[in-house]
Amino acid sequence: MSAYAIEVSNLRVRVRGLDVLRGVDLKVRRNTILVIMGPSGSGKSTLLRTLNRLTDFIDGINVEGSVVVLGRDVFTIDPCELRRKVVLVSQEPNPFPHMTIFDNVALPAKLNGIARNKQELYEVVKWALEKVMLWDEVKNRLRDYPHSLSGGQRQRLCLARALAAKPEILLLDEPTANIDPSNTFKIEESLRELREELTIVMVTHMPHQAVRVADHVALLYDGIIVEEGPAKEVFMNPKNDITNKFLRGAI
Ligand SMILES: Nc1ncnc2c1ncn2[C@@H]1O[C@H](COP(=O)(O)OP(=O)(O)O)[C@@H](O)[C@H]1O
Ligand SMILES: [Mg+2]
Repeated sequence: MSAYAIEVSNLRVRVRGLDVLRGVDLKVRRNTILVIMGPSGSGKSTLLRTLNRLTDFIDGINVEGSVVVLGRDVFTIDPCELRRKVVLVSQEPNPFPHMTIFDNVALPAKLNGIARNKQELYEVVKWALEKVMLWDEVKNRLRDYPHSLSGGQRQRLCLARALAAKPEILLLDEPTANIDPSNTFKIEESLRELREELTIVMVTHMPHQAVRVADHVALLYDGIIVEEGPAKEVFMNPKNDITNKFLRGAI
């Protein structure tokens, strides 16, 4: 088994004439957290989407290069099987509106065969909601629908739904953008613990968050990774001028 959960080489993505990714090389070791930073529009979300082929749903997209995830070429495997193991939490909270809070989290656990009976299902749902600091707020209203939740609660619900699938790789696109600081810190702690069980790729445009969470960081700028390395090294001693500017908030 490869030491890497993700191996991307020379990935080029073009959307209707626009070069969004222009030759990305990236390796992510198993059981680590890679944080991808970069200004808006640099291609972070697109890069995440190529990893579980959510790019299939973008009209006029052209993807070239090699993307190997969990030892398999993503372009030759069944995308549904891929997305059971590689789960993405998108920037915009998107809970299933017609399903209760409980069922939103229970569904992936059922689909992935994580729970064998009602009791186990309840345990997984509770575990996932606790990991994202939502359990105490919803434990007495599990049969309510997500529209009754605040934006931050909906985002945490989507994180819990992803965890309940027990994925091998978790892709997080600015997962705490709508969440208050104290819950954000606790969720970051949960992520640090969870990496014992899975591999995490997280996008943020907040360097402070990257410092707290990342094992490795990569800086994406205009479709290219301009710098990549162990988090401490990159933060203490950025080698690239663009990284320097980004960390100083100048871009
Ligand atoms: N579905 C799409 N259709 C057209 N342009 C897109 C699409 N997805 C991304 N892009 C373009 O690709 C560039 C990178 O977008 P994105 O990956 O969302 O960047 P980031 O997440 O870093 O802000 C942007 O210029 C964006 O407009
Ligand atoms: Mg984005």
